[in-house]
Amino acid sequence: MKKHNYSAGPSILPQEVFEKASKAVLDFNNSGLSILEISHRSKDFVAVMDEARALALDLLGLTGKGYQALFLQGGASTAFLMAPYNLMKENGKAAYLDSGTWATAAIKEAKFFGETVIVGSSKEENYNHIPKGYQIPADADYFHCTSNNTIFGTQMKEFPTTNIPVVCDMSSDIFSRDLDFSKFDLIYAGAQKNMGPAGTTLVVVKEEILGKNGRAIPSMLDYTKHIKAESMYNTPPVFSVYVSLLTMQWIKAQGGVAAVEKLNDAKASLLYTEIDRNPLFKGAAAVEDRSNMNVTFLLNNADHTETFDKLWKEAGVSGLPGHRSVGGYRASIYNAMPIESVQVLVDVMKALETKV
Ligand SMILES: Cc1ncc(COP(=O)(O)O)c(C=O)c1O
Repeated sequence: MKKHNYSAGPSILPQEVFEKASKAVLDFNNSGLSILEISHRSKDFVAVMDEARALALDLLGLTGKGYQALFLQGGASTAFLMAPYNLMKENGKAAYLDSGTWATAAIKEAKFFGETVIVGSSKEENYNHIPKGYQIPADADYFHCTSNNTIFGTQMKEFPTTNIPVVCDMSSDIFSRDLDFSKFDLIYAGAQKNMGPAGTTLVVVKEEILGKNGRAIPSMLDYTKHIKAESMYNTPPVFSVYVSLLTMQWIKAQGGVAAVEKLNDAKASLLYTEIDRNPLFKGAAAVEDRSNMNVTFLLNNADHTETFDKLWKEAGVSGLPGHRSVGGYRASIYNAMPIESVQVLVDVMKALETKV
């Protein structure tokens, strides 16, 4: 039986993407060869990379606006250090919003390169909300934020206006909602949530911010080198890029990011309404900052844990336990999660009321 997969990442992808990907593993484009055994310089794979790069910009509304899309390796964790390497001046400084574990990890890497100014932090409240009312120093080399905090289930609903470059880790909500993406100068996202299998990181960068910090940058960490090589500086993670392309094509066929956002709003609303209605549960994140991707919630009475866990497992739900730093439950309802699966979870939550 196919499970209702609430895993935070690697995570659910559209069923048709799994099917097309499996076909390509056996016979890619009727070539008689697997996608896994052809040269990355072959005409067929170059076409995949070109389309993936163009479609990423298209979905974000950034075509023709001076941006480049890259599919790199090393995960979002490598982007944590590539951002300062490419943007922070020698003896420079960068401003960071500390909204969760991944933001903290990004800050840790930036400290290798220069001063980091933490403009706001919700650490004291175990990151249950997005810090607000912060000032961004105008003399920082860039401002960094995390649009969606996968572990804590919070999501930035607004982004600051500033004259310095804005860098955003969108790993867990890329392609999930329509924003004015031209407000961002550097966006990065590990593929393994809303885009594809683990193994590639989407980087979308405004070219004009690069090459200005005066640092000598090792080739693999230099965005400019990757742009020049059209995202093929070395062997790219071919399968991850291909599956990411299939997912982006699926998003486009749904009507693009705005159409997917509508479905995501409906799914999140269904689940949050039940969390707020059901006296057995409570949400973990501040209401105004609730994530539409990772819904964190707790049982009001820990004695009900065993019964609830049995119920959702019997219903075919998988991947629901929360991250150890928050406890409780986390329902990751990424783009590919059908609303019918969310209804299954809501029904289980309702059923618990009749069992305790
Ligand atoms: C928001 C966010 N940033 C960064 C990361 C780290 O990503 P990676 O494992 O690709 O390095 C994660 C992983 O879950 C994440 O959720």
